[in-house]
Amino acid sequence: MKIAVAGSVATDHLMTFPGRFRDSFVEGSLDNVSLSFLVDGLVVRRGGCAANIAFGLGALGLEPILVAAVGIDFADYNSWLTRHNVNTEHVFTSQEQHTARFLCTTDMELNQIASFYPGAMSEARMIELGVVHAAVGGVDMVIITPDDPDAMLNHTAAARSLGIPFAADPSQQMARMDGEQIKRLIDGAEYLFTNEYEKALTEQKTGWSSDEVLERVKVRITTHGAKGCVIERRGAPVLTVPVAKEHSKIDPTGVGDAFRSGFLAALAWGLGDERCAQVGAMIATYVLEHQGTQEYRFTDREFIIRLRDSFGDASADEVAPHLHSPFGK
Ligand SMILES: Nc1ncnc2c1ncn2[C@@H]1O[C@H](COP(=O)(O)OP(=O)(O)OP(=O)(O)O)[C@@H](O)[C@H]1O
Ligand SMILES: [Mg+2]
Repeated sequence: MKIAVAGSVATDHLMTFPGRFRDSFVEGSLDNVSLSFLVDGLVVRRGGCAANIAFGLGALGLEPILVAAVGIDFADYNSWLTRHNVNTEHVFTSQEQHTARFLCTTDMELNQIASFYPGAMSEARMIELGVVHAAVGGVDMVIITPDDPDAMLNHTAAARSLGIPFAADPSQQMARMDGEQIKRLIDGAEYLFTNEYEKALTEQKTGWSSDEVLERVKVRITTHGAKGCVIERRGAPVLTVPVAKEHSKIDPTGVGDAFRSGFLAALAWGLGDERCAQVGAMIATYVLEHQGTQEYRFTDREFIIRLRDSFGDASADEVAPHLHSPFGK
């Protein structure tokens, strides 16, 4: 099964300021703000929804096709993704702009000042999914994740007209889209992924009830953080899948993306909904245990031991023959 992952690729620059921002804001003097914070920590992390999901699929042994717009600075990130099984041959490289970048400074009270520069991502609307589809000899499933809003709408329309099954993952971009646009992103999806909050936002913005949304998609997966996820399929009983056991909770950033990668990998292996969610939950726990969204690694053996511990023998035995992690047996 050839899976294409469309969406953002970004680099995150995360800084820590060992003071309080509010001590620098002088009441009555905010008309001419010119502030520079001397920070004492900087970490640079690879991110972006599509890159995170593609990395997760690669970590599980698949070879996902990345459909994204990147910048002139992509070389390092490219070799990282390629080393982890991601096919980056079809990315669109901007001639002028840098890859999207997120800059965030956090002070000692956990207040944040951040900027997101979309850069090359705003050229993602130039990508034609049909060209990628033809070049790889047919995409079997495309997941459309947060990206330039026009690109998300274009990819969804292309998937529909080319008959490529698609998974809708509007996540953060839902905040800036209106009801009509959200309808276009989810109508006819094979899979709809949202968290609990985004599910409510979908209903509020589209005016569709929960049942009406479910009528328009084949399967709806709603993640509930530490409470696991709920899978609904028309005419089938609702499934609830708990989270996998964790060793530690370090940084939740990227758990949603990781969950999607595990779910889709198990789908490609031909496993059922419940197994898909269990593999998703397991890999999400790996992300939770690491600082950064692409810093985890596991051998096949380790992953299966942990899956067995969380979800039992039947789950581990079904997944084991399929897992071929690039991190080793
Ligand atoms: N605290 C947790 N402990 C264990 N697993 C978790 C935890 N939080 C999330 N997960 C796993 O990750 C999945 C997705 O989490 P969540 O619902 O928080 O996604 P999200 O809100 O889209 O997150 P984000 O967009 O910040 O990555 C959950 O269904 C679960 O499997
Ligand atoms: Mg999310």
